[in-house]
Amino acid sequence: MILVTGGAGFIGSNFVLDWLAGSDEPVVNLDKLTYAGNLHNLASLQGDSRHHFVQGDIGDRALLDQLLAEHQPRAIVHFAAESHVDRSIHGPEDFIQTNVVGTLRLLEAARAYWGGLTGERKDGFRFLHVSTDEVYGSLEKEDPAFTETHNFEPNSPYSASKAASDHLVRAWFHTYGLPVVTTNCSNNYGPYHFPEKLIPLMIVNALAGKNLPVYGDGMQIRDWLYVKDHCSAIRRVLEAGRLGETYNVGGWNEMPNIEIVKHVCSLLDAQRPRADGQSYAEQISYVKDRPGHDRRYAIDARKLEKELGWKPAETFDSGIRKTVQWYLEHQDWVAQVQSGDYKDWVNKQYA
Ligand code: NAD
Ligand code: DAU
Repeated sequence: MILVTGGAGFIGSNFVLDWLAGSDEPVVNLDKLTYAGNLHNLASLQGDSRHHFVQGDIGDRALLDQLLAEHQPRAIVHFAAESHVDRSIHGPEDFIQTNVVGTLRLLEAARAYWGGLTGERKDGFRFLHVSTDEVYGSLEKEDPAFTETHNFEPNSPYSASKAASDHLVRAWFHTYGLPVVTTNCSNNYGPYHFPEKLIPLMIVNALAGKNLPVYGDGMQIRDWLYVKDHCSAIRRVLEAGRLGETYNVGGWNEMPNIEIVKHVCSLLDAQRPRADGQSYAEQISYVKDRPGHDRRYAIDARKLEKELGWKPAETFDSGIRKTVQWYLEHQDWVAQVQSGDYKDWVNKQYA
Protein backbone atom coordinates (compact mmCIF):
# COMPACT_ATOMS: atom_id res chain seq x y z
CA MET A 1 0.00 0.00 0.00
CA ILE A 2 1.25 3.49 -0.84
CA LEU A 3 -0.26 6.85 0.10
CA VAL A 4 -0.40 9.37 -2.74
CA THR A 5 -1.28 13.00 -2.07
CA GLY A 6 -2.75 15.12 -4.87
CA GLY A 7 -3.59 12.04 -6.91
CA ALA A 8 -6.60 13.68 -8.60
CA GLY A 9 -4.47 16.41 -10.20
CA PHE A 10 -2.66 16.35 -13.52
CA ILE A 11 0.52 14.44 -12.65
CA GLY A 12 -0.91 12.63 -9.62
CA SER A 13 -3.78 11.08 -11.59
CA ASN A 14 -1.40 9.96 -14.36
CA PHE A 15 0.79 8.47 -11.64
CA VAL A 16 -2.07 6.58 -9.95
CA LEU A 17 -3.33 5.23 -13.30
CA ASP A 18 0.15 4.08 -14.32
CA TRP A 19 0.86 2.62 -10.89
CA LEU A 20 -2.27 0.47 -10.89
CA ALA A 21 -1.74 -0.52 -14.52
CA GLY A 22 1.63 -1.96 -13.58
CA SER A 23 1.10 -3.30 -10.07
CA ASP A 24 -1.54 -4.68 -7.75
CA GLU A 25 -0.22 -2.73 -4.79
CA PRO A 26 -3.15 -0.56 -3.62
CA VAL A 27 -3.13 3.22 -3.45
CA VAL A 28 -4.72 5.51 -0.88
CA ASN A 29 -5.27 8.76 -2.72
CA LEU A 30 -5.64 11.82 -0.50
CA ASP A 31 -6.76 14.91 -2.41
CA LYS A 32 -8.59 18.05 -1.34
CA LEU A 33 -10.20 18.41 -4.78
CA THR A 34 -9.38 22.05 -5.29
CA TYR A 35 -10.25 23.51 -8.71
CA ALA A 36 -7.30 21.41 -10.03
CA GLY A 37 -8.44 18.07 -8.64
CA ASN A 38 -10.73 16.06 -10.90
CA LEU A 39 -11.93 12.55 -10.14
CA HIS A 40 -13.02 12.16 -13.76
CA ASN A 41 -9.34 11.59 -14.46
CA LEU A 42 -9.66 8.40 -12.40
CA ALA A 43 -13.09 7.29 -13.66
CA SER A 44 -11.57 4.10 -15.08
CA LEU A 45 -10.77 3.06 -11.47
CA GLN A 46 -14.36 3.27 -10.26
CA GLY A 47 -15.17 0.07 -8.39
CA ASP A 48 -11.48 -0.95 -8.32
CA SER A 49 -10.74 -1.98 -4.74
CA ARG A 50 -7.04 -1.17 -5.21
CA HIS A 51 -7.87 2.56 -5.35
CA HIS A 52 -9.06 4.11 -2.12
CA PHE A 53 -9.93 7.79 -2.57
CA VAL A 54 -10.16 10.15 0.39
CA GLN A 55 -11.19 13.78 -0.02
CA GLY A 56 -9.18 15.79 2.48
CA ASP A 57 -6.45 18.33 3.13
CA ILE A 58 -2.78 17.49 3.70
CA GLY A 59 -2.91 20.22 6.35
CA ASP A 60 -5.36 18.14 8.42
CA ARG A 61 -3.06 16.37 10.87
CA ALA A 62 -5.79 14.31 12.51
CA LEU A 63 -6.86 12.95 9.13
CA LEU A 64 -3.26 12.16 8.19
CA ASP A 65 -2.68 10.28 11.45
CA GLN A 66 -5.87 8.31 10.95
CA LEU A 67 -5.05 7.38 7.33
CA LEU A 68 -1.51 6.31 8.16
CA ALA A 69 -2.64 4.20 11.12
CA GLU A 70 -5.45 2.60 9.14
CA HIS A 71 -3.62 1.84 5.88
CA GLN A 72 -0.03 1.38 7.09
CA PRO A 73 1.55 2.49 3.79
CA ARG A 74 5.12 1.55 2.94
CA ALA A 75 5.61 4.89 1.18
CA ILE A 76 4.16 8.36 0.73
CA VAL A 77 4.38 10.00 -2.69
CA HIS A 78 3.66 13.68 -2.23
CA PHE A 79 2.21 15.53 -5.23
CA ALA A 80 -0.40 17.73 -3.54
CA ALA A 81 0.31 21.40 -4.14
CA GLU A 82 -0.96 24.62 -5.59
CA SER A 83 0.87 24.44 -8.90
CA HIS A 84 0.09 27.42 -11.14
CA VAL A 85 2.59 30.30 -11.22
CA ASP A 86 0.06 32.91 -12.46
CA ARG A 87 -2.34 32.06 -9.63
CA SER A 88 0.50 32.37 -7.12
CA ILE A 89 1.17 35.91 -8.34
CA HIS A 90 -2.47 36.91 -7.81
CA GLY A 91 -2.96 35.04 -4.52
CA PRO A 92 0.11 33.59 -2.77
CA GLU A 93 -1.68 32.67 0.47
CA ASP A 94 -2.97 29.22 -0.61
CA PHE A 95 0.48 28.37 -1.93
CA ILE A 96 2.09 28.93 1.46
CA GLN A 97 -0.73 27.09 3.21
CA THR A 98 -0.65 23.96 1.07
CA ASN A 99 2.90 23.81 -0.27
CA VAL A 100 4.68 24.86 2.92
CA VAL A 101 2.36 24.31 5.90
CA GLY A 102 0.70 21.29 4.28
CA THR A 103 4.09 19.68 3.56
CA LEU A 104 5.17 20.38 7.14
CA ARG A 105 2.05 18.62 8.50
CA LEU A 106 2.61 15.68 6.19
CA LEU A 107 6.26 15.40 7.24
CA GLU A 108 5.30 15.50 10.89
CA ALA A 109 2.59 12.87 10.46
CA ALA A 110 5.02 10.71 8.46
CA ARG A 111 7.68 11.10 11.14
CA ALA A 112 5.31 10.02 13.91
CA TYR A 113 4.07 7.04 11.87
CA TRP A 114 7.58 5.97 10.75
CA GLY A 115 8.84 6.33 14.34
CA GLY A 116 6.33 3.69 15.38
CA LEU A 117 7.42 1.16 12.73
CA THR A 118 10.01 -1.50 13.40
CA GLY A 119 12.41 -3.74 11.49
CA GLU A 120 12.06 -4.07 7.72
CA ARG A 121 8.95 -1.93 7.62
CA LYS A 122 10.83 0.94 9.21
CA ASP A 123 13.92 0.47 7.03
CA GLY A 124 11.87 0.22 3.87
CA PHE A 125 9.65 3.25 4.45
CA ARG A 126 10.02 6.14 1.96
CA PHE A 127 8.74 9.71 1.74
CA LEU A 128 9.04 10.88 -1.86
CA HIS A 129 8.61 14.61 -2.35
CA VAL A 130 7.66 15.72 -5.86
CA SER A 131 9.16 19.10 -6.67
CA THR A 132 10.09 21.35 -9.55
CA ASP A 133 13.04 22.81 -11.44
CA GLU A 134 11.63 26.29 -10.68
CA VAL A 135 13.29 26.23 -7.25
CA TYR A 136 16.64 26.84 -9.01
CA GLY A 137 15.54 30.17 -10.51
CA SER A 138 16.30 31.30 -14.05
CA LEU A 139 19.17 30.57 -16.46
CA GLU A 140 20.87 32.85 -18.97
CA LYS A 141 21.23 31.58 -22.53
CA GLU A 142 24.85 30.45 -22.06
CA ASP A 143 24.44 28.84 -18.60
CA PRO A 144 24.70 25.07 -18.23
CA ALA A 145 21.50 23.23 -17.33
CA PHE A 146 20.49 22.97 -13.65
CA THR A 147 22.23 20.21 -11.71
CA GLU A 148 21.11 19.08 -8.26
CA THR A 149 23.78 21.27 -6.66
CA HIS A 150 22.55 24.50 -8.26
CA ASN A 151 21.66 27.25 -5.77
CA PHE A 152 18.02 27.73 -4.87
CA GLU A 153 16.96 31.09 -6.35
CA PRO A 154 13.14 30.96 -6.63
CA ASN A 155 11.49 33.98 -8.24
CA SER A 156 7.72 33.46 -7.97
CA PRO A 157 5.53 32.88 -4.93
CA TYR A 158 4.93 29.37 -6.33
CA SER A 159 8.61 28.51 -6.69
CA ALA A 160 9.43 30.09 -3.32
CA SER A 161 6.79 27.90 -1.67
CA LYS A 162 8.14 24.79 -3.39
CA ALA A 163 11.71 25.71 -2.43
CA ALA A 164 10.56 26.07 1.18
CA SER A 165 8.97 22.62 1.03
CA ASP A 166 12.15 21.11 -0.45
CA HIS A 167 14.14 22.61 2.42
CA LEU A 168 11.72 21.18 4.98
CA VAL A 169 12.01 17.73 3.44
CA ARG A 170 15.81 17.98 3.49
CA ALA A 171 15.77 19.11 7.13
CA TRP A 172 13.50 16.23 8.19
CA PHE A 173 16.11 13.86 6.76
CA HIS A 174 19.11 15.49 8.42
CA THR A 175 17.45 16.27 11.75
CA TYR A 176 15.12 13.33 12.28
CA GLY A 177 16.46 10.74 9.83
CA LEU A 178 13.12 10.49 8.00
CA PRO A 179 13.87 8.44 4.86
CA VAL A 180 13.13 11.00 2.15
CA VAL A 181 13.94 11.43 -1.53
CA THR A 182 13.08 14.47 -3.65
CA THR A 183 12.58 14.82 -7.39
CA ASN A 184 12.88 18.18 -9.20
CA CYS A 185 11.22 17.94 -12.59
CA SER A 186 10.92 20.25 -15.58
CA ASN A 187 7.64 21.23 -17.31
CA ASN A 188 5.27 18.33 -17.86
CA TYR A 189 2.63 17.99 -20.57
CA GLY A 190 0.15 15.26 -21.54
CA PRO A 191 -3.37 13.97 -20.77
CA TYR A 192 -5.46 15.57 -17.99
CA HIS A 193 -3.38 18.78 -17.97
CA PHE A 194 -5.59 21.57 -16.65
CA PRO A 195 -6.21 24.12 -19.43
CA GLU A 196 -4.73 27.04 -17.54
CA LYS A 197 -1.20 25.84 -18.39
CA LEU A 198 0.49 26.72 -21.68
CA ILE A 199 0.07 23.59 -23.83
CA PRO A 200 -3.52 22.59 -22.97
CA LEU A 201 -4.61 26.24 -22.99
CA MET A 202 -3.28 26.66 -26.52
CA ILE A 203 -5.04 23.50 -27.75
CA VAL A 204 -8.33 24.39 -26.11
CA ASN A 205 -8.29 28.06 -27.16
CA ALA A 206 -7.28 27.20 -30.71
CA LEU A 207 -10.21 24.83 -31.14
CA ALA A 208 -12.58 27.39 -29.59
CA GLY A 209 -11.44 30.09 -32.05
CA LYS A 210 -9.96 32.18 -29.24
CA ASN A 211 -6.68 34.07 -29.01
CA LEU A 212 -3.52 32.15 -28.14
CA PRO A 213 -1.96 34.47 -25.53
CA VAL A 214 1.85 34.40 -25.63
CA TYR A 215 3.46 36.27 -22.75
CA GLY A 216 6.07 38.95 -23.60
CA ASP A 217 8.23 38.08 -26.61
CA GLY A 218 7.51 34.33 -26.36
CA MET A 219 11.24 33.58 -26.21
CA GLN A 220 11.23 32.21 -22.66
CA ILE A 221 12.56 28.68 -22.66
CA ARG A 222 11.04 25.71 -20.87
CA ASP A 223 12.29 22.11 -20.84
CA TRP A 224 9.39 19.75 -21.64
CA LEU A 225 8.78 16.19 -20.46
CA TYR A 226 5.82 13.92 -21.25
CA VAL A 227 3.95 13.28 -17.99
CA LYS A 228 4.21 9.47 -18.18
CA ASP A 229 7.99 9.83 -18.26
CA HIS A 230 7.87 11.91 -15.09
CA CYS A 231 5.78 9.14 -13.52
CA SER A 232 8.29 6.45 -14.51
CA ALA A 233 11.11 8.55 -13.02
CA ILE A 234 9.22 8.86 -9.73
CA ARG A 235 8.65 5.10 -9.63
CA ARG A 236 12.34 4.52 -10.25
CA VAL A 237 13.46 6.99 -7.56
CA LEU A 238 10.98 5.46 -5.12
CA GLU A 239 12.46 2.06 -5.86
CA ALA A 240 16.16 2.85 -5.84
CA GLY A 241 16.82 6.51 -4.98
CA ARG A 242 19.41 7.11 -2.28
CA LEU A 243 18.00 8.51 0.95
CA GLY A 244 18.31 12.24 1.46
CA GLU A 245 19.21 12.76 -2.22
CA THR A 246 17.50 14.91 -4.81
CA TYR A 247 17.14 13.82 -8.44
CA ASN A 248 16.52 16.13 -11.37
CA VAL A 249 14.01 14.82 -13.91
CA GLY A 250 13.96 16.07 -17.49
CA GLY A 251 14.14 14.99 -21.10
CA TRP A 252 16.75 17.42 -22.51
CA ASN A 253 14.12 19.22 -24.47
CA GLU A 254 14.44 22.99 -24.24
CA MET A 255 12.13 25.03 -26.43
CA PRO A 256 11.04 28.68 -26.59
CA ASN A 257 7.34 29.13 -25.83
CA ILE A 258 6.53 30.55 -29.25
CA GLU A 259 7.94 27.42 -30.91
CA ILE A 260 5.78 25.23 -28.70
CA VAL A 261 2.70 27.24 -29.63
CA LYS A 262 3.50 27.09 -33.36
CA HIS A 263 4.14 23.35 -33.10
CA VAL A 264 0.75 22.80 -31.46
CA CYS A 265 -0.88 24.93 -34.18
CA SER A 266 0.72 22.92 -36.97
CA LEU A 267 -0.44 19.62 -35.43
CA LEU A 268 -3.96 20.98 -35.14
CA ASP A 269 -3.78 22.30 -38.72
CA ALA A 270 -3.07 18.75 -39.85
CA GLN A 271 -5.45 16.90 -37.56
CA ARG A 272 -8.40 19.31 -37.28
CA PRO A 273 -8.02 21.99 -39.99
CA ARG A 274 -9.82 25.29 -39.47
CA ALA A 275 -12.98 25.64 -41.54
CA ASP A 276 -11.60 28.76 -43.29
CA GLY A 277 -8.40 26.94 -44.32
CA GLN A 278 -6.21 29.36 -42.34
CA SER A 279 -3.64 28.17 -39.81
CA TYR A 280 -4.40 28.23 -36.07
CA ALA A 281 -1.19 30.28 -35.83
CA GLU A 282 -3.32 33.22 -37.02
CA GLN A 283 -4.82 33.22 -33.50
CA ILE A 284 -1.47 33.87 -31.77
CA SER A 285 -1.55 37.10 -29.81
CA TYR A 286 1.40 38.56 -27.90
CA VAL A 287 0.21 39.84 -24.51
CA LYS A 288 1.67 41.52 -21.41
CA ASP A 289 4.47 39.54 -19.81
CA ARG A 290 4.13 37.59 -16.55
CA PRO A 291 5.72 39.56 -13.67
CA GLY A 292 9.08 38.07 -12.62
CA HIS A 293 8.93 35.74 -15.63
CA ASP A 294 11.86 33.29 -15.52
CA ARG A 295 13.70 33.40 -18.84
CA ARG A 296 15.01 29.87 -19.14
CA TYR A 297 14.81 26.49 -17.39
CA ALA A 298 16.92 23.51 -18.41
CA ILE A 299 17.38 20.27 -16.50
CA ASP A 300 20.53 18.20 -16.35
CA ALA A 301 19.13 14.73 -15.65
CA ARG A 302 22.43 12.82 -15.78
CA LYS A 303 22.36 11.81 -12.12
CA LEU A 304 19.02 10.03 -12.56
CA GLU A 305 20.09 8.55 -15.90
CA LYS A 306 23.46 7.27 -14.72
CA GLU A 307 22.70 6.29 -11.14
CA LEU A 308 19.26 4.79 -11.63
CA GLY A 309 19.28 3.99 -15.35
CA TRP A 310 16.14 6.04 -16.09
CA LYS A 311 15.31 7.16 -19.63
CA PRO A 312 12.21 8.88 -21.02
CA ALA A 313 10.16 6.79 -23.42
CA GLU A 314 8.82 9.70 -25.48
CA THR A 315 10.54 12.30 -27.63
CA PHE A 316 8.91 15.72 -27.73
CA ASP A 317 7.52 14.94 -31.19
CA SER A 318 5.86 11.70 -30.11
CA GLY A 319 4.64 13.11 -26.78
CA ILE A 320 3.10 16.29 -28.18
CA ARG A 321 1.41 14.33 -30.98
CA LYS A 322 -0.19 12.01 -28.39
CA THR A 323 -1.19 15.00 -26.29
CA VAL A 324 -2.92 16.88 -29.11
CA GLN A 325 -4.65 13.67 -30.14
CA TRP A 326 -5.81 13.09 -26.53
CA TYR A 327 -7.38 16.56 -26.31
CA LEU A 328 -9.09 16.10 -29.67
CA GLU A 329 -10.55 12.81 -28.43
CA HIS A 330 -11.52 14.12 -24.99
CA GLN A 331 -13.49 17.25 -25.74
CA ASP A 332 -16.04 16.10 -23.14
CA TRP A 333 -13.33 16.25 -20.44
CA VAL A 334 -12.39 19.76 -21.56
CA ALA A 335 -16.03 20.89 -21.57
CA GLN A 336 -16.59 19.55 -18.06
CA VAL A 337 -13.45 21.17 -16.72
CA GLN A 338 -14.33 24.49 -18.30
CA SER A 339 -17.91 24.45 -17.04
CA GLY A 340 -16.96 23.23 -13.58
CA ASP A 341 -19.40 20.31 -14.03
CA TYR A 342 -16.79 17.84 -12.85
CA LYS A 343 -17.33 19.11 -9.33
CA ASP A 344 -21.02 18.09 -9.46
CA TRP A 345 -20.02 14.65 -10.64
CA VAL A 346 -17.61 14.34 -7.75
CA ASN A 347 -20.21 15.45 -5.24
CA LYS A 348 -22.62 12.83 -6.51
CA GLN A 349 -20.05 10.02 -6.36
CA TYR A 350 -18.84 10.85 -2.88
CA ALA A 351 -21.98 12.25 -1.25
P1 NAD B 1 -2.20 20.09 -10.17
O1 NAD B 1 -2.48 21.50 -9.77
O2 NAD B 1 -2.73 19.59 -11.46
O3 NAD B 1 -2.73 19.09 -9.04
C1 NAD B 1 -2.56 19.33 -7.67
C2 NAD B 1 -3.47 18.38 -6.92
O4 NAD B 1 -3.27 18.61 -5.50
C3 NAD B 1 -4.96 18.62 -7.19
O5 NAD B 1 -5.62 17.39 -7.38
C4 NAD B 1 -5.46 19.32 -5.92
O6 NAD B 1 -6.82 19.06 -5.64
C5 NAD B 1 -4.54 18.72 -4.87
N1 NAD B 1 -4.39 19.59 -3.69
C6 NAD B 1 -4.13 20.92 -3.66
N2 NAD B 1 -4.08 21.37 -2.40
C7 NAD B 1 -4.27 20.28 -1.59
C8 NAD B 1 -4.30 20.09 -0.19
N3 NAD B 1 -4.13 21.12 0.64
N4 NAD B 1 -4.51 18.85 0.29
C9 NAD B 1 -4.69 17.80 -0.55
N5 NAD B 1 -4.70 17.93 -1.88
C10 NAD B 1 -4.47 19.15 -2.41
O7 NAD B 1 -0.62 19.94 -10.09
P2 NAD B 1 0.36 19.05 -10.96
O8 NAD B 1 0.76 19.81 -12.16
O9 NAD B 1 -0.22 17.70 -11.11
O10 NAD B 1 1.64 19.00 -9.99
C11 NAD B 1 1.76 17.97 -9.00
C12 NAD B 1 3.06 18.17 -8.26
O11 NAD B 1 4.16 18.13 -9.18
C13 NAD B 1 3.16 19.53 -7.56
O12 NAD B 1 3.80 19.32 -6.32
C14 NAD B 1 4.02 20.35 -8.49
O13 NAD B 1 4.75 21.33 -7.77
C15 NAD B 1 4.95 19.30 -9.06
N6 NAD B 1 5.49 19.57 -10.39
C16 NAD B 1 4.65 19.91 -11.42
C17 NAD B 1 5.19 20.09 -12.70
C18 NAD B 1 4.31 20.44 -13.87
O14 NAD B 1 4.83 20.71 -14.95
N7 NAD B 1 2.99 20.42 -13.75
C19 NAD B 1 6.56 19.96 -12.90
C20 NAD B 1 7.38 19.63 -11.82
C21 NAD B 1 6.82 19.42 -10.57
O1 DAU C 1 9.00 23.95 -14.58
C1 DAU C 1 8.08 23.19 -13.87
C2 DAU C 1 6.83 23.99 -13.62
O2 DAU C 1 6.15 24.07 -14.88
C3 DAU C 1 5.93 23.39 -12.56
O3 DAU C 1 6.60 23.40 -11.33
C4 DAU C 1 4.61 24.18 -12.45
O4 DAU C 1 3.74 23.57 -11.53
C5 DAU C 1 3.96 24.21 -13.83
O5 DAU C 1 2.79 24.99 -13.78
C6 DAU C 1 4.93 24.77 -14.87
O6 DAU C 1 5.17 26.17 -14.61
P1 DAU C 1 5.28 27.23 -15.82
O7 DAU C 1 5.02 28.59 -15.31
O8 DAU C 1 6.53 27.01 -16.60
O9 DAU C 1 4.06 26.69 -16.73
P2 DAU C 1 2.93 27.45 -17.57
O10 DAU C 1 2.26 26.42 -18.40
O11 DAU C 1 2.11 28.34 -16.72
O12 DAU C 1 3.80 28.37 -18.53
C7 DAU C 1 4.78 27.83 -19.41
C8 DAU C 1 5.41 29.00 -20.14
O13 DAU C 1 4.46 29.56 -21.04
C9 DAU C 1 5.84 30.13 -19.23
O14 DAU C 1 7.05 30.70 -19.75
C10 DAU C 1 4.71 31.14 -19.33
C11 DAU C 1 4.19 30.94 -20.74
N1 DAU C 1 2.74 31.17 -20.94
C12 DAU C 1 1.87 30.52 -20.11
C13 DAU C 1 0.51 30.69 -20.26
C14 DAU C 1 -0.46 30.00 -19.34
C15 DAU C 1 2.29 31.96 -21.97
O15 DAU C 1 3.12 32.52 -22.75
N2 DAU C 1 0.96 32.11 -22.14
C16 DAU C 1 0.04 31.52 -21.33
O16 DAU C 1 -1.18 31.73 -21.51
